[in-house]
Amino acid sequence: MAASSQPHVLVARRIFPQVVERLRECFEVDDNPTDTILERSQLVERLQGKAGAFITASERIDAALLDACPDLRAVCNMAVGFNNIDVQACSARGVMATNTPGVLTETTADLGFALLMAAARRITEGERYLRQGRWTRWTYDMFIAPDVHGSTLGILGMGRIGQAIARRGALGFGMKVIYHNRTRLAPDLEAPLAARWVEKTTLLRECDHLVLVLPYSDQTHHAIGAAELALMKPAATLTNIGRGGLVDEDALAAALQAGRLAAAGLDVFEGEPHINPKLMALPNAALTPHIGSASLRTRRAMADLAAANLIAALCGQRPPSLLNPEVFGLHSR
Ligand code: DGY
Repeated sequence: MAASSQPHVLVARRIFPQVVERLRECFEVDDNPTDTILERSQLVERLQGKAGAFITASERIDAALLDACPDLRAVCNMAVGFNNIDVQACSARGVMATNTPGVLTETTADLGFALLMAAARRITEGERYLRQGRWTRWTYDMFIAPDVHGSTLGILGMGRIGQAIARRGALGFGMKVIYHNRTRLAPDLEAPLAARWVEKTTLLRECDHLVLVLPYSDQTHHAIGAAELALMKPAATLTNIGRGGLVDEDALAAALQAGRLAAAGLDVFEGEPHINPKLMALPNAALTPHIGSASLRTRRAMADLAAANLIAALCGQRPPSLLNPEVFGLHSR
């Protein structure tokens, strides 16, 4: 690598060229315009001599990788979810880790609500039927489905995105909102939505439409499995816009297949982009390819924030969305 006074950084995936240009003003940038998926060994190789990494949810940063990349001082995720980063391992090695909260809240809530609607009102199922040329006449019970308006919306994980979905449900669709979260919302946040904190089992039993928006971790792995699904109403729907690992997909497929759950709307999958074939085969599963935050404006805002984090981290400023503030200011590794 040619000597340069500027820090060297890797941009691991293809991103907006304007954002790469902005990074080039501050760094020697090794980017990936062809968007080759970097295998782990390639990622390690490309990170040699790099002080910073601009990554996405597809790149896994763990202790072994950090040990193999000793020059790394900052890893900046272009995603709010950061289960791909072992933040503790970063902290232990003095590496700053950042994510992109806030800028994608409303866009992701829009997609969550769209998937809820698609699952509940059988939109993708109806479209497939029509495109297959099977629609020959109207019948009173064709694609009959549960209502969304006036029903009970259950939210598991009431952070920013959960609250944005609650607003859509309560204010736009007259839904009763119940939620479960580790901590209860402040009364001034609950009141305008008439949102009620309930135990997880109550949430599962009472909701008509459940939306999962909690962060994924070892503690939340398969937060919804066979036992949880068994508590839900058979006419209920499940929407997942968090991470695939929140749901035991085999158990979900079995419940959908057996009519123990009406439908599911899924934007995230446990082994994505590989999709569980049992889910693929089910007409009552509306599936999208992890596009929760995919509006042009929001994706640009995410890239800008990830870049701002990287620039701040390597230029002695506190990154705007630093996940491990205890590391800020440490320079020795
Ligand atoms: C996020 O920001 O976490 C989205 O799911 C994209 O990965």
